[in-house]
Amino acid sequence: MSNTVESLPANWYYDEAVFRSEQKNIFEKNWTFIVDSTEVAQPGRFVTATIANQFIIIVRTLKGELKGFLNLCRHRASTICAEDNGSLTQFTCPYHAWSYDLDGRLKNAPGFKIGEQVTSEKFSLIPVQVDIWNGLVFACLHRECASLESWLGDIVRIAENYPAISEMTFATTRRDEGRINWKNYSDNAAEGYHLPTIHPALNAALVSKQTRIAAYENGKFIGFKVVYKDRDNDSEDSSQNDCSGFWIYKFPGLLLHFSMNSFNIERVIPIDPQTTVMQRWFWFKPSIDKQQRKQAIEFSSQVMKEDIGICTRVQKNLEGGVYQTGLLSRQREPGTIFFQQCVKEALPES
Ligand code: FES
Ligand SMILES: [Fe+2]
Repeated sequence: MSNTVESLPANWYYDEAVFRSEQKNIFEKNWTFIVDSTEVAQPGRFVTATIANQFIIIVRTLKGELKGFLNLCRHRASTICAEDNGSLTQFTCPYHAWSYDLDGRLKNAPGFKIGEQVTSEKFSLIPVQVDIWNGLVFACLHRECASLESWLGDIVRIAENYPAISEMTFATTRRDEGRINWKNYSDNAAEGYHLPTIHPALNAALVSKQTRIAAYENGKFIGFKVVYKDRDNDSEDSSQNDCSGFWIYKFPGLLLHFSMNSFNIERVIPIDPQTTVMQRWFWFKPSIDKQQRKQAIEFSSQVMKEDIGICTRVQKNLEGGVYQTGLLSRQREPGTIFFQQCVKEALPES
């Protein structure tokens, strides 16, 4: 077997048709992290979000069930909820005031007779799959998607080695936008080859000899077992203490960082072929004080800035027309090879 693999063609990083196919065949068919479940714990609480640029609503019904719908009025396609979150007892469309109960059933359509001109069967909100794992709410647009747990695969087992979300408190979220294709960001996030050059501070914080990178078929993700240097005892062998962490790049666009003191999750959100939003959510153990939390979030933001910086320069050259395809090393970039293979397998025309 050759030691190298050809990388994805450059035009896949800016082509409109490829982007549309990815939204339909990848992002609509996979689960997407939406919010901490405590945000939709009480009856009537809702949050809005997007998946593959489609608007969705997640709501706790008055009977206590968690439900998801497209945020799409069946009359003339307005969104029915404009706010990011809130509490309500029914949805009322702001355009012409059609209303729906929290189970999505059409209740009232001013000027129309329900049951005659419009039936609640035909004109109710369109459901979206929702489920909760480890206190995290996920949604999927595809009706016949695999269960959330089977989609997560071995991540469920790995997470058991770290504190549950319920043992932590949610701290904050950060949103960054880059003029980059989502795969450009993902190619980078799936390998550790660039750590010494692009992230010198992060690299210095890790015991690099103990980093293990592997691709997991069951759950389609790249796992990075890392060991942080123990600042207190300066030991190089910190594998048996609280300094170990597990980073995950889950196809198509979810990053999870587990450690004994904190957890963070990141969503890679493709906006258009050349724009991607990266949103991060942070949780900490109660024992981690304000100053430590601030430092950890700032450190993560520094790494994000470094990644967006290099990916922006890569993006310009990918669009420049000279570079067509490059080479990936099986030894140094196995995660990127795995990620690109997942992309190719998911697109019908490739
Ligand atoms: S679009 Fe919603 S009521 Fe008209
Ligand atoms: Fe990076």
